[in-house]
Amino acid sequence: MKKPEMMKAIRLHEFGGPEVLRYEDAPLPALKLGEVLIRVHAIGINPPDWYLRDGYKMLPPEWRPSMPFPIIPGSDVSGVVEAVAIDVQDFSVGDEVFGMIRFPSFGESAAYAEYVTAPASDLARKPVGIDHVHAAGVPMAGLTAWQFLIELGHNVQNPLQPDMHRPVPINGKTVLVNGAAGGVGHFAVQLAKWRGAQVIAVASGKHESFLHELGADEFIDYTKRPPEDVAREVDLVLDTLGGSTTGRFLRTLRQGGALFPVFLGFSDAEEAARRGITVSMTQVRSNGLQLAELGRLLDAGTIRVAIDSTFPLADARMAHERAAHGHIQGKIVLTVA
Ligand SMILES: NC(=O)c1ccc[n+]([C@@H]2O[C@H](COP(=O)([O-])OP(=O)(O)OC[C@H]3O[C@@H](n4cnc5c(N)ncnc54)[C@H](OP(=O)(O)O)[C@@H]3O)[C@@H](O)[C@H]2O)c1
Repeated sequence: MKKPEMMKAIRLHEFGGPEVLRYEDAPLPALKLGEVLIRVHAIGINPPDWYLRDGYKMLPPEWRPSMPFPIIPGSDVSGVVEAVAIDVQDFSVGDEVFGMIRFPSFGESAAYAEYVTAPASDLARKPVGIDHVHAAGVPMAGLTAWQFLIELGHNVQNPLQPDMHRPVPINGKTVLVNGAAGGVGHFAVQLAKWRGAQVIAVASGKHESFLHELGADEFIDYTKRPPEDVAREVDLVLDTLGGSTTGRFLRTLRQGGALFPVFLGFSDAEEAARRGITVSMTQVRSNGLQLAELGRLLDAGTIRVAIDSTFPLADARMAHERAAHGHIQGKIVLTVA
């Protein structure tokens, strides 16, 4: 069947709130060497999608990239290969694939659409045991947890620290995950358990049973007690909130422990040095091979993806409004008819 020339997509013509997400016609993306064209079935949404929509207001002005409109946001998809470039050998037409596309790149990943092109190296085969909605929820959140906790996804230095991120051994260690019910957090809890850690999950009370089901050994409801007043002698804190408040976790760590903030803003380097604590972060990057490893764990039932809610692609605005409401449990996913 001949490919259509136009598709439906969500495009930005200006930066702003969820209302700037416009569902409209857009040309099909052109396939380049090394790429495959995917007919998208589901799209996982992630915080960078609204950072882009807002015009990267969370970055210092000198770091904000300039991008030509219209922009199709989004990075995470699950779908079926529709065409492959002549030099692509790992995938064929009809394969079910999932991936985080061209991340980090500003406005070039273009996942909120019926079709998207992706470098073959960003993709893995979709686990057969899960549907496209669940598969689309995996890439960015799963790879972030993987690249913070298990192994680096790349050799690109983080602009925020002079050294490369160094994951630490977690077998037999106590790992505290803050923001444990969210996209990154719920994968981090499961990967830490899989690697033999004792896991303390920090989240609001409504997520308690969910997090125990995922394997958390202890639960701290941050709305009742500040986790930094409760936890002690922890080996590693993965703070999926990060930011300027992340330093409060230093006092929960044992001498020689590690704090991994997932978001920039840490500013207590002196206290960390005094306590002998390593503070380290990284920037998630696309990696099809690591995604395939996550896929094997998903197929084996070792880890699972929780779906907070789904919305049709046309209602991406409502999905962003849901995200802005907070308290996400797992992933928000857009579906394509
Ligand atoms: N470094 C990187 O490469 C990288 C990659 C991916 C994501 N990130 C960043 O990581 C962060 C998390 O991303 P995500 O996709 O996991 O977000 P998410 O799905 O929105 O999850 C955030 C979670 O945090 C919980 N939370 C909110 N306030 C909290 C508090 N005070 N204490 C403890 N938990 C709290 C929320 O639920 P409750 O409040 O109900 O518990 C929610 O479950 C974002 O800032 C994102 O930009 C960084």
